[in-house]
Amino acid sequence: MRTIDWVSDADGPAIEIVDQTALPDTTRMLRLRTTTEVVDAIARLAVRGAPALGVAGALGVALAAARHATSPAPAARDAANAASARGAAPAARDAANAAFGDAVSAASAVRGAHSATSAGHDAHSAASAVGDAHSAASGRVGERLAADVEALRRARPTAVNLARGVDRAAARIPAGPDAVLAEALALRDEEIASSQAMAARGADLVTELVGPSARLLTHCNTGGLATVTGGTALAVVTELHRRGVLAGVIASETRPLLQGARLTAWELREAKVPFRVAVDGAGPFLMARGEVDAVILGADRICANGDVVNKVGSYAHALGAARAGIPFLVVAPESTVDEATATGADVPIEDRPAGEVLAFAGHRTTPDGAEAANPAFDVTPHDLITAIVTDRRIIRPSVR
Ligand code: MRU
Repeated sequence: MRTIDWVSDADGPAIEIVDQTALPDTTRMLRLRTTTEVVDAIARLAVRGAPALGVAGALGVALAAARHATSPAPAARDAANAASARGAAPAARDAANAAFGDAVSAASAVRGAHSATSAGHDAHSAASAVGDAHSAASGRVGERLAADVEALRRARPTAVNLARGVDRAAARIPAGPDAVLAEALALRDEEIASSQAMAARGADLVTELVGPSARLLTHCNTGGLATVTGGTALAVVTELHRRGVLAGVIASETRPLLQGARLTAWELREAKVPFRVAVDGAGPFLMARGEVDAVILGADRICANGDVVNKVGSYAHALGAARAGIPFLVVAPESTVDEATATGADVPIEDRPAGEVLAFAGHRTTPDGAEAANPAFDVTPHDLITAIVTDRRIIRPSVR
């Protein structure tokens, strides 16, 4: 099963996602058909995790490009109006109006006007109408597409993958919707290949650092649900299990939205990897008590100086690992490495709604009037990180 993919059905193209808000109780697929639906799914974490967000952003642009290319009424209406206003030849006007009425694209209105021109009906006026219709239609379509691209780009601020995925697909807009989709699918395929490369390299490194019987602690969710298939840090965990060298893994529950308790635990159970769930605050103590050989987790952004921005709670685990003298490992694709951002202090950290903290499972747990601090991510300084494993290399930020 893929966490996110492109599908086409009788209702047209869509982005299909696993609805991560429904797990672990229900495995539900959603088909997103508009930019508003994609932005909403990203904002409420129905699709989440840095690599998956990159793919969602790119596919979101592909969806917007496809919709605007075939979105008939407004663009064709503009074409028809422009043709009328210029006193175009009847055939040109009819072609534009037919395009509007039949709900076909503005492009076909323009094509119709072109054929009217070549048929010789008031050629001058029709030709002028064609020009106006074309620029009016493409101008409006361009504006709407640009607004969609911007909305996708801003859906969440912290994981660099989202803006990158959006920008990469949007760069192909001038080449047409098919080119945009091809770019988005290439990104999807690259993330799948990255997961496989990270799993192998990361498993080798864990065994080298802690031996053939690793007891690991992981935070948030970094499995197939956070990518397309496979995962980042959790792909390393499952690869170690497959090799028979994993002695145990603790999933840190990841307050407030419980990506560890709900999603990582679900993925580990599906993969038949034995695991335990611990509250976030227990992590450093479990390390101090000698129950953890290494911490392994993902990243939403890796800065030029090696600082790692990841799910809030990661920093506490890094401090615990440093105190216990065990490796702190980050696994993330190159698509998460952001050389343009100097340090963690330069990364916009998403603040999420207070209700996520003030209530638990739909029940208010705090007194009336309580306020919340709810940063969704934190910064682990580079000097606390033993190694960052990507699909291409191992970075050792603490020895830079
Ligand atoms: O808020 P989320 O669930 O999108 O946060 C996700 C994380 O912090 C993950 O650890 C990170 O994206 C790495 S995913 C491979």
